[in-house]
Amino acid sequence: MKKVSGSVSKNSIHNLLKDKRCIIVCGGGGVGKTTTAASLALAATKVRKRILVVTIDPAKRLAEAFGFSQKALEQGGEPILLSEESKLKLGIDSEVSFSVGILNPKYVLSQVVEQTLSKEQGDRLQKTMLYSQLSEMVYGLQEYTAYEWVTRMIQNEEYDLIVLDTPPSFHAKDFFLVPAKIKNLMESKVFQLFAPKKGTWFKTMLSFGWIEKLLGEKVYRESRMFLETFSLLRDRILERCDLLSKFFTQKEVAVIAVSTPESSAMFELDGLDQFLRERKIQLEGIIVNQVEQAAGRLSEELASELNDVMKEKFKKLEIHQQKRSEKAMLAVQKCQTRYPSIEVISAPMVYDPDGFLILKQTAESIIPQ
Ligand SMILES: Nc1ncnc2c1ncn2[C@@H]1O[C@H](COP(=O)(O)OP(=O)(O)OP(=O)(O)O)[C@@H](O)[C@H]1O
Ligand SMILES: [Mg+2]
Repeated sequence: MKKVSGSVSKNSIHNLLKDKRCIIVCGGGGVGKTTTAASLALAATKVRKRILVVTIDPAKRLAEAFGFSQKALEQGGEPILLSEESKLKLGIDSEVSFSVGILNPKYVLSQVVEQTLSKEQGDRLQKTMLYSQLSEMVYGLQEYTAYEWVTRMIQNEEYDLIVLDTPPSFHAKDFFLVPAKIKNLMESKVFQLFAPKKGTWFKTMLSFGWIEKLLGEKVYRESRMFLETFSLLRDRILERCDLLSKFFTQKEVAVIAVSTPESSAMFELDGLDQFLRERKIQLEGIIVNQVEQAAGRLSEELASELNDVMKEKFKKLEIHQQKRSEKAMLAVQKCQTRYPSIEVISAPMVYDPDGFLILKQTAESIIPQ
């Protein structure tokens, strides 16, 4: 584990974990956002007492490392408190409460509906076929609901720190574009046509009499009711999207980016940084994940058991691994030079089938034991 940027400075990731209320972990696809978010939360157990990590689509071995069942993983819902047994395995102090929330957009959306509509309206809306498909229909709903959830958690003060993993996306910056994209969608002509603002509904639907003939009365009525009720939700969503754009720049919120040493990931990191700067969002930490480590030396005992051919093979492997490790470290150092005011931490590539070691070692590279 190497702290590339030297001693703990004012804006170190260590300090962010100590001081912030919410840390957003973003980065390109598959770089290790979910794993790093969990590791950051684990590292935070050294400096905070009540921690929540909101994870999205966790890899199986991560869920297993937290001791969750497949069912809990699929359902999502309210955050789950880690059991004493899992805490012990992960080295979390028994006084610390560590919760994991697995984001389920459908669940969060049902809460938004509950808060926005009357019980009767909400029940009717949720029974429609279109509603059940909403989470797949609306682009960015996962991101939107992640934000809904986090703001609710921040408001009810149940947690000192919330670490938010961001959904898989093609580009790292997609997460930050969601508020603007949803806003555009809700205000677009097409959406207005199908879910018009209050008062204009009847007029619009009159011109859709042909839909009734085409789809049959039941589908027509259901779609009409869905859109009518959904347009009530739209105002709430629009208002939240405005808040979401400001959320990222709040003092109590920090954005940390994850990359790997690969040049394509570093390139994406630069793009993300520039994109955030243009929006006055400050990147406050970088974790370069999956940094290859040099191979361990062959013990004398083991070496004595190997024949010359095997020894030669092992030597070659060692040199190969050494080169990979040097290349990765060079990439990390370059990253540090490029971002002198941000702490850059390197987290090792860990070959571990059950996920515990990855979490522990990454957490240790953030806050050394
Ligand atoms: N430091 C590491 N060492 C070894 N394997 C790792 C490390 N970090 C992540 N992984 C593995 O890489 C895979 C991708 O990690 P993860 O799911 O955290 O990435 P992600 O950025 O969240 O992906 P997505 O963009 O799909 O959400 C997982 O199998 C994870 O266990
Ligand atoms: Mg992920």
